[in-house]
Amino acid sequence: MKPTAIVYQSNAGHTRRYAELFAQLSGLPAYDLKRAGSKLKKGDAIVFFGWLMAGNLQGFQKAVRRYSVSALSAVGMGHPGDGQIETIAKKYGFDLEKAFYLQGGLDFKKLHGLYGVMMKTLSRFMGPALEKKDGKSPEEIEMLAMLKTGGDYVSRDHLEPLLAWYKEQ
Ligand SMILES: Cc1cc2nc3c(=O)[nH]c(=O)nc-3n(C[C@H](O)[C@H](O)[C@H](O)COP(=O)(O)O)c2cc1C
Repeated sequence: MKPTAIVYQSNAGHTRRYAELFAQLSGLPAYDLKRAGSKLKKGDAIVFFGWLMAGNLQGFQKAVRRYSVSALSAVGMGHPGDGQIETIAKKYGFDLEKAFYLQGGLDFKKLHGLYGVMMKTLSRFMGPALEKKDGKSPEEIEMLAMLKTGGDYVSRDHLEPLLAWYKEQ
């Protein structure tokens, strides 16, 4: 079904920026999941954008109960091609051809509440382990830098596969 809107859930803003960028490219309106209820009807076809938290797609379960999710986009700090989208599609029983991974970033200053504490704890464990590792891949070097100081990889280029899918609908 051709989507008529974008619905997103974001914590630190990377997912919101992707949703807004895709709104510009597609012409679809974009709504925060919390506010979408007053704008959309139950069963409306949407493109859902959510952020990854410990391998879970935030907001997806709620979105799928109300809307018909035509395509999903998962925003994470991992490098594209790291296999997370395959895991997500399998976990939520979603067609991989309509599931897209978008590299977001990490902004310690914008992480709200408990998420900031969780990320700092995570980086305290992952950082030193990665630091010690010999022969780090470029992706691991990127991840290490992100865990130390944060990073922003939001880019229009990452939206190309989703845009190509949308144009075919
Ligand atoms: C507690 C926590 C857990 C996370 N787990 C994952 C993860 O499993 N995979 C991943 O790629 N990114 C993970 N991230 C990184 C976020 O998905 C990334 O920062 C994303 O850009 C956040 O989107 P937002 O700015 O819209 O909230 C995690 C971040 C936090 C704070």
